[in-house]
Amino acid sequence: MKAIIFDLDGVIVHTDTYHYKAWKKLADRLGVYFDEKINNRLRGVSRMESLDIVLENSGFAKLSITEKEKLATEKNETYKDFLQAMNPADLSPQVLGALDCLKKRGYKMAIGSSSRNARLILEKIGLGDYFDAISDGNNITRSKPDPEVFLKAAEYLGLRPEECVVVEDAKAGIEAALAAKMKAIAMGDAAGCSRADWDIENFEDILNILVPVVG
Ligand code: BG6
Ligand code: MG
Repeated sequence: MKAIIFDLDGVIVHTDTYHYKAWKKLADRLGVYFDEKINNRLRGVSRMESLDIVLENSGFAKLSITEKEKLATEKNETYKDFLQAMNPADLSPQVLGALDCLKKRGYKMAIGSSSRNARLILEKIGLGDYFDAISDGNNITRSKPDPEVFLKAAEYLGLRPEECVVVEDAKAGIEAALAAKMKAIAMGDAAGCSRADWDIENFEDILNILVPVVG
């Protein structure tokens, strides 16, 4: 393994809870049922596909694309209000410590996120210049479980997929990593019920899996 590709929301930082709160606010306004179990299906999935899942059993499922885009923008505005309030204290010392250690061990580091807000989040938490490559929702046409976002990350790093390991909290993200022929480490919602190569409880547990790069 030469590189680690990290998902962002729910792996590096707790923005997954902001996604939940923003979708919940929209769903409540529309009178659509939404809970954390449904929210887990949105992990790793693009904004518009997420909206389709939120609306799937409601009277809003057949809205026009224009109407759906308005609702997705409304959710994103709420979400961005949460992001604006973020600062480097939102990055846990344990995560930062583990990232620094993995960098010292010689790994190339990249972000592989479906989000179009990834760069804003990284700036906010003080990691704007930290990663060797960023592949996000702005450079892909298909979101996870399609492997595109991770294959692009490997390409940006100048490495082969087989040289990369992915860290993910989304089942769709684990499927995407395996489809890309990469190794996969699952945490959070993805741990225990996916086909990942390793399951971890805490982010720092990655240090027990990925030893220093030799040569
Ligand atoms: C992923 C999240 O990282 O980004 C999904 O896990 C989200 O829940 C997706 O829908 C798209 O995010 P954004 O910020 O572009 O709306
Ligand atoms: Mg995630």
